[in-house]
Amino acid sequence: MAREYPFYCAGEWRTSPQRLEIRNPYNDELVGVTFNATEQDFEDAVTAAQRAFEVTRRLQSYERAEILLRLAEGLRRRQEEFARLIAQEAGKPIRDARVEVQRGIFTLTTAAEEAKRIGGEVIPLDLMAYSQGRFGFTRRFPIGPIAGISPFNFPLNLALHKIAPALASGNTILLKPPSRDPLTMLTFAELLDEAGVPKGAVSIMPMDRTVGDRLVTDERFKLLTFTGSPDVGWDLKARAGKKKVVLELGGNAGVIVDRTANLDVAIPRIRTGAFAYAGQVCISVQRVFVHRARWDEFVERFVEDVKKIKMGDPLDEATDLGPMIDDKAARRTQDWVESAVAEGAKVLVGGKAEGRFFQPTVLVDAPKWHPVCSREAFAPLVVLFPFDDFEQALAEVNDSAYGLQAGVFTSSLEHALRAFEVLEVGGVIINDIPTFRIDHMPYGGVKDSGLSREGLRYAIEDMTELRLVVFNRVPEI
Ligand code: SIN
Repeated sequence: MAREYPFYCAGEWRTSPQRLEIRNPYNDELVGVTFNATEQDFEDAVTAAQRAFEVTRRLQSYERAEILLRLAEGLRRRQEEFARLIAQEAGKPIRDARVEVQRGIFTLTTAAEEAKRIGGEVIPLDLMAYSQGRFGFTRRFPIGPIAGISPFNFPLNLALHKIAPALASGNTILLKPPSRDPLTMLTFAELLDEAGVPKGAVSIMPMDRTVGDRLVTDERFKLLTFTGSPDVGWDLKARAGKKKVVLELGGNAGVIVDRTANLDVAIPRIRTGAFAYAGQVCISVQRVFVHRARWDEFVERFVEDVKKIKMGDPLDEATDLGPMIDDKAARRTQDWVESAVAEGAKVLVGGKAEGRFFQPTVLVDAPKWHPVCSREAFAPLVVLFPFDDFEQALAEVNDSAYGLQAGVFTSSLEHALRAFEVLEVGGVIINDIPTFRIDHMPYGGVKDSGLSREGLRYAIEDMTELRLVVFNRVPEI
């Protein structure tokens, strides 16, 4: 009998008639059973979030910080259980799943620190004759119930990037975890009570499309924070009404290997960036531009390195690459690769689906308009291109509908600074892959890759409203 995971609604554990079976993408074993929330559950969760906001908005900074530290401690105590659950329901290799849990602890701890420094500023206002004697200061106030939608690829940490800043800033949140792997966050919900989160302040509930859509359209939410695919994200924004919208979407991240790059560093890092979690990462390396003077050496060494990747059971300590999340994802990747080959691309290694696995794949000579280059692959595949001139390589990286992060391997300070100036992305990573992220850094994209930034402090800015008070110094009567 698989374990049942009730969902956490308005401070209560609930089930519904709509069962959701969660299966291991590696072997289809049943990991657990949960339930989609009903319209009534949704209504109860929103009402509770509104009521709890009257409590959370009044919590002192130290109280918010202590709650977050207790959540971090709860996660630390059960870290191996969480890592194994992520490996089982998301198909993420266990070593990567453990890193995700460590990152989750860091996200909560950093949010606790940020809760203590949501400051403001004093603004001199006596800048014109009519404003003499005036000064002001600002303070950030929580905005009210937040709607969060988190993705399957980091079922723990990307959900915590919504819950942790919400709690740090005195808000409440209703989170819809991914339907493919919701059990991790339903287990996290077990930590909320013991950490002292006020009842109703956080609800975590799987939902079908109809109920989930109310997160977008319901005007009682003051902000919608979504991580997922660009197509879905921009559609949500168009329908979100007056609420603020934060979108963390995908990309086809580019990396430049300059003439002066250190290949001993670049090759293993690009391998990691392209194939970690089967490429199902928004900042996965998809396009690699290599200076022609280093092309032959790079291609030969990179392909040799990729051949060493070990596919297998996500729970096996030796596994580098697990399955894709579902059959559809593996089939789509196969279709894209076959169609690219029909258009002249060559497969240097990989190129085939094996059930739900997709072999780590390296392509060259792919036309730049083809989806393997121009759209988000979200798969273990990477396309290599030679370049002759650094400016040309920068233009190639920018020749994309997306702009999340980009990497540049170079020993030239001038080229590094030029890349920072020119690349149209949210983050330029020098001598590392675009896939680099530590959770307190500002993270988000431009163009189709999204809107606004996460990274605790930056998320807190979106989750609070700046309020100004103006003082006029007048003589006492
Ligand atoms: C993402 O896939 O959007 C997030 C990547 C990360 O947090 O490392």
